[in-house]
Amino acid sequence: MNATILFENTKPDSTGYIVDNGLSILVEKNGKQILYDTGKNDGLLKNAAALGVDLGIVDAVVISHGHNDHTGGLMGFLQVNNNAQIYLKRDALTPLFVKTPKIEKNISTNSRVLLKYSGRFTFVDTITKIGEGIFIVPDIKRLYPIPSVNRILFSGKNGTIVNDKFEHELFMIIKENNHLVIFTGCGHTGVQNIITTAKDVCLGTKIKAVIGGFHYESPSIKGCQEPKENIEGAARWILQEGIEKIYTGHCTGSSGYSIMKPILKDRIKRITTGMKITI
Ligand SMILES: [Fe+2]
Ligand SMILES: [Fe+2]
Repeated sequence: MNATILFENTKPDSTGYIVDNGLSILVEKNGKQILYDTGKNDGLLKNAAALGVDLGIVDAVVISHGHNDHTGGLMGFLQVNNNAQIYLKRDALTPLFVKTPKIEKNISTNSRVLLKYSGRFTFVDTITKIGEGIFIVPDIKRLYPIPSVNRILFSGKNGTIVNDKFEHELFMIIKENNHLVIFTGCGHTGVQNIITTAKDVCLGTKIKAVIGGFHYESPSIKGCQEPKENIEGAARWILQEGIEKIYTGHCTGSSGYSIMKPILKDRIKRITTGMKITI
C-alpha cells in the first residue's frame, strides 16, 4: 500500500505546494487509487499536478467527515474526474460551525456540489468494502473521551445549533495479509476510539499504522489546544497497543506532535504535503 499526501497544513521549505489547514491523501492499494479527503479549495488540483498525480484515474473518493477543510476540493476534483464515486456519511452534508463567544464560522460542505453531482455520491451507513482490502467504517465506538478541542464545534439540527456529536465522521481501513492501516481525517471521535473500533472490525489483525489527524488543536482559534496530559495519555496508550507507525499532522498540530514525539519516538512521523508513505 502506498499513500501520498496531496494536501496538508505544511510543506517542505524548498517546495512550492499550496498549503492551508486541510487534508487530502491519495492511497494506492492493489492497483486501485483512493482519494481520502480533498483538502481545501484548488490546492488539491495544483498539488496533484505538481506531484504528477492524475486525479482523472482515481477510482473512489472517501470523505472522512463534513468539515470543509476535507471536502473543499470536491468541486474541483469532480471537474477533472468523471468516474469516481464519492463515499461519505449522509450527516457530512449537515450544516457545521465553529462557534465561540467571539466568532461564528460556517465550515460546512458546499451544498452545491451535491446538487450538481448528485449521482456521484454514495452514503455509507454500514461497513462498506470499496475494493480488495479497502473498507469504510461509519460507526465509531465511544469508549474513550473525545478531544476536548471539539467543544467549539457545532452542527445544525432541526433549525437549532447543537454541540457536534461527529456522527458525520467515518474512517478507512486498508487490510493487508497480516496487518491493518487506519486512515483518520480529523479524528474528532478520538484516535483511541477509532483504533478500538478497527480492532473489533478486523478481529485479531495487527494494526501496523495510523495515518491522519488527531484534533489536538483548533485551526480556527489560536491557543485552543488539548491539555498535555490527554495527549500524553493517548500516546502511551498507542505505545501499549504496539502500533508500529503513526503518521500524523493537520489538526494534531505542532504542539500535539511534539508532546507525542518523546513517548512514541521513532514510531511517530510528521506528515507534510508531497510526502510518500509505503507500508
Ligand atoms: Fe480537519
Ligand atoms: Fe474536522
